[in-house]
Amino acid sequence: MSQQATAIARANIALAKYWGKSDVKLNLPAVASISLTLEPMRTQTTVTFDAKLPDDELVLNGKHTDGKPRMRAIKVLDQVRALAGIGVKARVESANNFPTASGLASSASGFAALVAASWSAAGLARDDDRWSALSRQASASAARSIYGGFVELPRGVPGDAALSARTVAAADHWDVRIVVAVANEGAKDVGSTEGMTLSEQTSPYYRAWVDCSDALVEEVRAGILARDLVKVGEAMEQSTLAMHACMMASRPGLIYLQPATLAALATVKQLRKEGVDVYATMDAGPHVKALCHARDAERVAAALQATPMVLRTLTAFPGPGLEIVS
Ligand code: PMV
Repeated sequence: MSQQATAIARANIALAKYWGKSDVKLNLPAVASISLTLEPMRTQTTVTFDAKLPDDELVLNGKHTDGKPRMRAIKVLDQVRALAGIGVKARVESANNFPTASGLASSASGFAALVAASWSAAGLARDDDRWSALSRQASASAARSIYGGFVELPRGVPGDAALSARTVAAADHWDVRIVVAVANEGAKDVGSTEGMTLSEQTSPYYRAWVDCSDALVEEVRAGILARDLVKVGEAMEQSTLAMHACMMASRPGLIYLQPATLAALATVKQLRKEGVDVYATMDAGPHVKALCHARDAERVAAALQATPMVLRTLTAFPGPGLEIVS
């Protein structure tokens, strides 16, 4: 027996951020989040269930990979095998077309593509909501990469295994850009699950972060629907900085920002002074992602490129949801 499918998923960037879990076992977020699915930052994954394979194999960007990434992939494969009633081992070949050091989390597009490809290769019928729920269990931000455009992942009520993301507005709703300013690569980051647990257990600002997130999510959603970049941008920056304040006040402190990050933030502020609608967000890393109108993207990219310590920029636009290509 040999069954194969290939899926393409895009990375996403949170405009209203997720940080903290309400149920660690089911990987449910303690706060709602809203993201933008990013073209052309793609992961393409082929899953082949093959009766001749003695064990599950993972090939990431052309390299056989063991350890934690393989274990996380096997967890997804096991769930799909249980649903499809098959016991056959699989080969997973996954590659990103964006540089891994671009600061755009590849776990979101990676797990979304893995879930969709393994599900399809196992002969199950397409089901975006179930793909999203299954992706969420591996990486909550992956739940958002199943859908295109502007996507919301609601807060999870403990025990809700079926929680999935949903579309707020399609990719063609609003022609915005995300310009990524790649900052200096520093010491290895603390992973998101570990960081979230640390913040929840030790940060005096964790409750305040959770309490302020609902209003920010409302503002981001309303701003997207009204195509109001100032509204989305202001709420996005506050969501980002509130999340980082919560991270930083953990014990030990989680400081993801670096000198290049602050330099890029100053550039964004300067551009605003010059009349450009541009706002910044950062994830669990030093890179700055700037949201702006399509017409301003070149100017924003040039200014960030010229910022001391910024290594390079890349520009993304609203992209489609999960695609099965074979
Ligand atoms: O889904 P994870 O475990 O990779 O966590 C993502 C957390 C942030 O990137 C910091 C914020 C977000 O909403 O994507």
